Amino acid sequence: MEHYDWTADLDLGIDVIDSQHRRIVDYINEINDAIAQQDVTMVFDVMERLKDYTMDHFAFEEQLLKQAGYLLMEAHQQVHRRFEDRIAKYEESLLNGHDPFGVARRIRTALMAWLIQHIKQEDADYVPVVKKVLKREESWINGALKRIFGQPENA
Ligand SMILES: [Fe+2]
Repeated sequence: MEHYDWTADLDLGIDVIDSQHRRIVDYINEINDAIAQQDVTMVFDVMERLKDYTMDHFAFEEQLLKQAGYLLMEAHQQVHRRFEDRIAKYEESLLNGHDPFGVARRIRTALMAWLIQHIKQEDADYVPVVKKVLKREESWINGALKRIFGQPENA
């Protein structure tokens, strides 16, 4: 069974974002576990949490980019929406009674490939702009984390 280990080249050097990306990889690995254990309930459960968490992460990232005045914000948002559409399609396949483990395997492979590519390309592009804003906006970050995730990250 394929297990994805976080590698240092995926770190953007922005702790608040890196920890969220790691969490998404954890969920993808939980899908691995659900396949290994042939546990259908777990597939559905992890899928739900992965979807919720990813949407929260995107919302946070987008607000951060807006706050930072990032010029490619709209294009970045579109990439996020396409990813959400993809998750919704997988969810639909699960609900339509397709083989849950077959779908889970496709989710695992496709999402991980997408995530790595997105982090290394689109996300990497905003790093300098966001780093600048992080220094002066710590209280804004904490407020946004609380608004979107309901609690400070890592709590
Ligand atoms: Fe992103």
